[in-house]
Amino acid sequence: MIHRKSPPEIALMREGGAAVAKVLRRMEEVVKPGITTARIEEEADRMARSLGIAPAFKGYNGYPAAICVSVNEEVVHGIPSSERVLAEGDIVGLDFGALYKGFYSDAAVTLPVGNPSREARRLLEVTRKALYRGIESALVGHRVGDVAFAIQSFVEENGFSVVKVFVGHGIGRSLHEEPQVPNFGEPQWGVRLKEGMTLAIEPMVNAGGDGVKVLDDGWTAVTEDGSLSAHFEHTIAVTENGPLILTMDETPRMESGN
Ligand code: MF3
Ligand code: CO
Repeated sequence: MIHRKSPPEIALMREGGAAVAKVLRRMEEVVKPGITTARIEEEADRMARSLGIAPAFKGYNGYPAAICVSVNEEVVHGIPSSERVLAEGDIVGLDFGALYKGFYSDAAVTLPVGNPSREARRLLEVTRKALYRGIESALVGHRVGDVAFAIQSFVEENGFSVVKVFVGHGIGRSLHEEPQVPNFGEPQWGVRLKEGMTLAIEPMVNAGGDGVKVLDDGWTAVTEDGSLSAHFEHTIAVTENGPLILTMDETPRMESGN
């Protein structure tokens, strides 16, 4: 069953989503060569507390941390560790979700650590843009397949592949609700999008093939061929005025040299 949200419910999700976005924005300052991925976990947890949101992933199906930290060939669901040190030129996916006043929101970014290769930076840009292609297609009257097709076609035109085994999802009073939102598919396929639907759209893009396997820790998904992978995600609402991004930090971005 698909739960559509009222404007006041969407307003609450927007408040929670803004806090989630602030946590990820802060990570742009935290992430640098030489830090451990456990440092990212500490900072996410500390910030969530101070913003009054509850991390959504910790304890979800037994996942042990507040934030998923996935380095290089890790696709999603990497577990922060005091043993894992970020190196110059890595890319690091950060996926964070939270519960606020009864509603979840979920977002992800992939950040460069120092100066990754040109090809790695292109992977980040293509994945980020693919997310926005998907969001732009989330219009009343379109279907889930239109979002999926927009993402897949953009990624493949750029020579990369979309991961098929993990998908985006409806979100609201539960972290995962119907409908599923795949990152591949045919236009005009699947559930029709309606006013008030709230969706987590989350392309995962591999530089090589689309194959993925899960490591022995039971969580960390990596590319089968060892190629780099990137992940971007927003929680959005479908409205008569077009898609509304809920995981958006309203604080003006500080100008920085990079
Ligand atoms: N953004 C991911 C998702 O929507 C994060 C879930 S990770 C888990 O599925 F740890 F909570 F499982
Ligand atoms: Co998600």
